[in-house]
Amino acid sequence: MGKTYAIAVIPGDGTGPEVVRQGCKVLNAAAAKFGFNLEMTDFDFGGERYLRTGEILPETAVDDLQQFQAIYLGAIGHPGVKPGLLEKGILLKLRFELDQYINLRPVRLYPGVETPLKNLGPEHIDYVVVRENSGGIYTGTGGISMKGTSNEVAVQSMVYNRFQVERCLRYAFEYTRKFGKKARGKGNANTLGLVGKTNVLTYVFDLWERTFHEIGEKDYPDVQREYYHVDATCMWMVKSPEWFDVLVTSNMFGDIITDLGAETQGGMGIAAGANINPEGVSMFEPIGGSAPKYTGKNIINPLAAICAGAMMLETLGELDAAGAVEKAVKEVTATKIKSLSAGKMGYSTSEVGDLVAQRL
Ligand code: IPM
Ligand code: MN
Repeated sequence: MGKTYAIAVIPGDGTGPEVVRQGCKVLNAAAAKFGFNLEMTDFDFGGERYLRTGEILPETAVDDLQQFQAIYLGAIGHPGVKPGLLEKGILLKLRFELDQYINLRPVRLYPGVETPLKNLGPEHIDYVVVRENSGGIYTGTGGISMKGTSNEVAVQSMVYNRFQVERCLRYAFEYTRKFGKKARGKGNANTLGLVGKTNVLTYVFDLWERTFHEIGEKDYPDVQREYYHVDATCMWMVKSPEWFDVLVTSNMFGDIITDLGAETQGGMGIAAGANINPEGVSMFEPIGGSAPKYTGKNIINPLAAICAGAMMLETLGELDAAGAVEKAVKEVTATKIKSLSAGKMGYSTSEVGDLVAQRL
């Protein structure tokens, strides 16, 4: 048999384990078909472990995960734990410590999937958001003083340095060159759009915009450059998403616009994301949360986790397998599934996993 990849699996909280189980089923089917092995090792990080042990993440966690070629994650977030504790202590901590400075989030409408955008189909909703994933307001300094008094002050600052901005933009330019609309035979240009707010955040986005044009002109003259304000971007994501090819933006803006993007592609049931360290260990996850109210019912949609698995295969270099998983998902959405919403698919979680796996 061919190559073996060591994969760390973090099923996590809520419906995470259910969707990851289906993802692993599909990934193993792809491995068997395309002649490689996936050696999966489970990690029990999440709310249950925290409530049991009082420890959010073991001290060795980051070092342990560094030993793997990729991380496959279900969901983090538990109704019995104060909001923010697990998200910051596990998900964000791993993103930052593993220096996964890119969050790649395709916004793609699959055939047969209903979008809330009237009269638009898969040919209109097909772009990718490159979200900066290690800096900005997520890691900027801040604090609260005089808490609880009428003089209370809260500060949380958006901080970017040139290094963070430049490496993110370079990744986005390279990505656009390889996977933009022209490269995919779907248009006559590869276009990278910078999403910012240069009219108000005149320091941070000035740095982004200057760096964008400077390196674009010098090193990526073949990639067409556009700039959009983030508020206008939201408008166009609804009105004319076909304008977009690849978008690049800051951490916070990327977080916000990709939830809107996910909704236009049929919801959290299908939206996948990749936290990428191009030189290190990357982590792949469905972008929806742990969905506590659906937990354990075998009704949650596993397609987002399966699509995240396809992104993992692509990053590992198993391009044929990744393409086959995506094709199988498209066949299932086009011919089988009634709705992407939990409980309305016409199939159970495990049956949807079977449908995709069978098509491989
Ligand atoms: C996401 C999530 C996270 C984020 C939360 C859970 C910390 O919303 O992956 O988009 O803000 O990045
Ligand atoms: Mn989010």
